[in-house]
Amino acid sequence: MSATPLRTLIPNLPSGILYGGDYNPEQWPESVWLEDARLMREAGVNLVSLAIFSWAKLEPVPGRYDFGWLDRVIEILWRHEVSVCLATATASPPAWFSRLHPEGLALGPDGQRFTHGGRQHYCPNSVAYRSASISLITKLAERYGRHPAVALWHINNEIGCHVNACYCPVCTAEFQAWLKRRYGTLGALNEAWGTAFWSQIYGDWSEICLPGRTPTYCNPTQSLDHHRFVSDSMRRIVETEVAAIRAVVPEAKVTTNGVFVMKSANYRDWYGLCDVAALDSYPDPHQGLPENRAAALCHDFYRGFKDGLPFILMEQVSSQVNWRSSNVLKRPGQMRAMSYAAMARGADGIMFFQWRASKAGAEKYHGALLPHVGADSRVFREIRQLGQELRSLSRVAGSRIPARVALLDCWHNRWALELPSKPATFDYLKIFSFFHTALWNNHVAADVVSPDSDLARYDVVIAPTLYQIPVARAEKLRDYVSQGGTLLTTYFSGIVDENEHVHLGGYPALLKDVLGLVVEEWQPIPPDAKNGLRLTGAGDDQPAVPCGFFSEVIHLRGAEPVATFTEDFFAGSPAITRHRFGKGEAFYLATQPEQRFLESWLKELLGDRGIRAPVRAGANIEVSLRRADDEEFLFVINHDRNPAAVDYGVWTGAPDLLSNGAPVPTGENLPGFGVRILSRHIS
Ligand code: GAL
Repeated sequence: MSATPLRTLIPNLPSGILYGGDYNPEQWPESVWLEDARLMREAGVNLVSLAIFSWAKLEPVPGRYDFGWLDRVIEILWRHEVSVCLATATASPPAWFSRLHPEGLALGPDGQRFTHGGRQHYCPNSVAYRSASISLITKLAERYGRHPAVALWHINNEIGCHVNACYCPVCTAEFQAWLKRRYGTLGALNEAWGTAFWSQIYGDWSEICLPGRTPTYCNPTQSLDHHRFVSDSMRRIVETEVAAIRAVVPEAKVTTNGVFVMKSANYRDWYGLCDVAALDSYPDPHQGLPENRAAALCHDFYRGFKDGLPFILMEQVSSQVNWRSSNVLKRPGQMRAMSYAAMARGADGIMFFQWRASKAGAEKYHGALLPHVGADSRVFREIRQLGQELRSLSRVAGSRIPARVALLDCWHNRWALELPSKPATFDYLKIFSFFHTALWNNHVAADVVSPDSDLARYDVVIAPTLYQIPVARAEKLRDYVSQGGTLLTTYFSGIVDENEHVHLGGYPALLKDVLGLVVEEWQPIPPDAKNGLRLTGAGDDQPAVPCGFFSEVIHLRGAEPVATFTEDFFAGSPAITRHRFGKGEAFYLATQPEQRFLESWLKELLGDRGIRAPVRAGANIEVSLRRADDEEFLFVINHDRNPAAVDYGVWTGAPDLLSNGAPVPTGENLPGFGVRILSRHIS
C-alpha cells in the first residue's frame, strides 16, 4: 500500500492538502472578487468549487451563454494561485427551464409537482433536463476544459439531496425499462418478486407502477428494485455529465459531492465513475462526540468508496449552519479539530460551504470562511491559522490508513434490511455504528469495504447484520474464514438472497457450516425491555450484561458458546458463539450487547490477534494512523472542550508537526479541541 497523493492521479491539483470551499462570486459585484482572491491567498486557500449554482447566470436565455464573468473570475483566481474545481452548474436549472419544461419538474409520490423557487427541483430522468445539461456542460468544457486553473470537475451538487425519487410518467416508463433490462421476461420478474402472493401477477410491463401510494406494504422486491432504480437514475446523471465533459476533454478529472451516507444513493457504485470521492459533512457541533463518531464513520465510508485512496471533504461549515432548529456555533478550536478529524481518516482536502457569507438569499445565515463581519473575526483568524498549518503538512498528503479490520458494507443489504414487514424495525447505520463506535473507542482503525473487496488483506472482518447474502458472497466469506480470517457476524444475517427470497432450512442457511450453528427462531426485544447474557465460565453471581433489540434461539452444530442468555424461555442457550472453520474462526452475536461490553469484548478479540491502540487515551479522543512510504503520522484529537489524558507510550518523544516538531511528552492532558500530529520514520 504505497502513498498516493491525489496529484499523482489528478495532475492539475495543487500539491499538498487542498484547502478552500464553494465560491459563489455571482452574488457579488466584480469589485469584491479581487478582495476575495487576496483574502483567499492570505488564508492559504488553494482550491475553490466554482459555479455550482450558476446556470441562470451562465445561460440567461436558452442557448445564449454568458461566460465573460466566469472568464474574469477564473483569471483572477489563477493569478492568485487558487485552482478551480469547476462545477457543471447543473444543480439548479434556471426559471426559463421550469417555464419551458414543466414536465421536467419532479413529481412527488402524492402526485404534486415541485414548483420553481427552491433548488434541485428537476426530475432525475427528465429528457429535457438531460439534454439542457449536456448543452451547457459541452460549452463549459470547450471553454474551460484545458484551462490550467481547472484542476477538477465538480459534477452537479449533492445529487438527490432534496429530490431523489420522482413519480412522474417518465420515471414510471424508465422503471419498466430498467426492470426489462434486469429480468428480461415478465416470467422472471414475477418469479423474483413473488407475485403469486397477494394476486400481484403481471401480464404486461405497462402494468408495473412505481411504489408510490399503496394501501399497505408494497411488494418488498418491487420496493428493493425501486431503491436500486432510484440510485441508478441519479448515477446516470453523474455518468451523463462525465461523458459530456470527456467528449470534449477525454483526460478531464471528475468528482461529485455525496451527502453523508444518504440512503437513496449507492455511492460505492457511483464513485466508480469518479477520480476521487468527495463528502459533504455537517455533524452537529452541539451533539459533540456522538456526531464526531458519525462523521468518522462517514470518513471511513468515503475512503472505502475508492479502495483506501484519499478523499476530499468537499463541504463542512466553519461556524454554524442555518438549517437546524438551533444552529449552534462550532466553539473556538472546534472547526480545526473537526477538520483534522477528517484528515486523520484519509481526507486530503479540507473544504467548506461557502467562501463569503451571502448578503441575500436562502443561506445568508449559514457560516462561511469570511463571515458578514469580515476578515477581522474569530472565524477568519481560525481559518487563516488552519490554512497556514496545512501548508506545513504537505507530506501527509497521499498517506494511507493501515487498517487490519474491515467492516463489511453493502447498500443493497441496507435497502433490503430496512424494508417494512420484518420481525423488527432495523436501522442499518445504527447497527453498523455499534461496531464502528466500539472500534473508535478502542482507537482501532477499520476500513469500510464491500463484500466484493479483497478480504484477505484483513485479519478481522466484521459483518453487522448481513441480512442479504447472495450465494457467491457466502462462498467468499467461507473462503475467507477457511483461509485463516476471523469473521464476526450478528443476528439476522444470511437470511435472504438478492431478490428478498428466504434461504430455507434454518438460518443463516448459507453460513451455517462456517458459523457452526443453526438459528431456529428470533425474538425481537422491545426498546423498554432487555435480556441478559453471561460469559461462559463466569459464575452465576456475576451480573448479567444487558442486551437488547434482538435475540435468537440457536442450536450449536460445532460452535462453542462464548456467552449464554440469562432471561426468558431461552435462558441458558447461546448468545455469542465461536467456531473454528478451516484455518480461521467465525464468531456470531445472537443479540446486541450493551456498548461497553461490546467494546471490551472486541478489545480482547482484537488484542489476541495483535491489533491494539497505538496510544492510550480516553473515549473523547480520536486516534488515527496514516502511513506514507517511509513515514507514519499519528493523529490525536480531543473532541471535548475539556482537557483529556493521553499516554503516548511508544510515541513518546515523537515530533509534533503542529508544534514545529517539538517532541511529545510521555503523557499529558491534551487541551480541549487540542490536536497533535506526530510523525516517525519507518523502514
Ligand atoms: C449542502 C449544499 C450546499 C449548502 C450547504 C449548507 O447540502 O451542497 O450548497 O446548501 O448544504 O449546509
